[in-house]
Amino acid sequence: MDTLKLLTKLTQINCVSGNEKEIKEYIKSETEKYCSEIYTDAMGNLVARKQGDGKKIMFAAHMDEIGIIVTDIDDKGFVLFAAVGGLNTRNLVNLRVCFSNGTEGVIGAREDAFKDKPALSKLYIDIGADSRESALALVSIGDTATFKGECIQRGDKVISKALDNRAGCAVLIEALSRIEKNDNDLYFVFTVQEEVGLRGAKTAAFAIEPDVAVAVDVTDTGDTPDAPIMAVKMGKGAAVKIMDRSVICDAEVRTKMIETARNHNIPYQLEIMTDGGTDAGAIHLTRAGVKTGGISVPTRYIHSPSEMASIKDIENCVDLVYNLAVAVW
Ligand code: CO
Ligand code: ZN
Repeated sequence: MDTLKLLTKLTQINCVSGNEKEIKEYIKSETEKYCSEIYTDAMGNLVARKQGDGKKIMFAAHMDEIGIIVTDIDDKGFVLFAAVGGLNTRNLVNLRVCFSNGTEGVIGAREDAFKDKPALSKLYIDIGADSRESALALVSIGDTATFKGECIQRGDKVISKALDNRAGCAVLIEALSRIEKNDNDLYFVFTVQEEVGLRGAKTAAFAIEPDVAVAVDVTDTGDTPDAPIMAVKMGKGAAVKIMDRSVICDAEVRTKMIETARNHNIPYQLEIMTDGGTDAGAIHLTRAGVKTGGISVPTRYIHSPSEMASIKDIENCVDLVYNLAVAVW
């Protein structure tokens, strides 16, 4: 499969947390041919299983993305909104957003929004409506929207909205498509509602009861001007997670990842992310605990319409996930 083509398809589907239906249908259509069983659980997680007699191994990638949700519409037709997931209000003004029904708008800011970091209550979305009635014909309270952000390739880099975490979804889809023979009982889980608190992964891990779990997501990098101190660099390989704010990864799983990367000449780097968490955080605390690790795609400008990652890093992550899936545990 062509990684860029897959990423273009995955990133341009708009599915904010809690509204993952469309992205799920697409991922299902891409994965069902490779697995022995595919189902959706009560939370909405998509579980693609490739049955085996060995250890139960769960790979998880969240398929939701951050966005906004309509809270009210004012008399003039301006749309008021709240955040779904972690929005950086500094970056929002004058951005275009797109609702599921195709309605587009521009985020505007009130005069006094900029004293500090603007509060969301100082921002609104202008969808070009002249009145509350005409706005209500286009959007209702509870509708969600995401950033617009085309998927483009520049050299070996890709720039798009929603690389967090459609890059992780692409890694799982590609790794799954490569597996011809497996002893392990493999669960490739595309989780819902990660961006609002790792919610889907929690119920999926409870139901599956894996022996080992690996969450695949994006991570920040420390390689842009004045970036916070962080060893991870874009283009330097798959990031093997040691710790983030939600998890300290299991030492055995981490060692297994490093050995697997070395044995197969897969470029890798070690990740400590001091901001933010991933599904690994929820999974490792399920039931009596799950041995959990994390693999990350180094990504710049996370949670913006222009996230940037290296296609080589993504391919290295695919290699690592594939080799872990078929390894003896
Ligand atoms: Co995120
Ligand atoms: Zn993510």
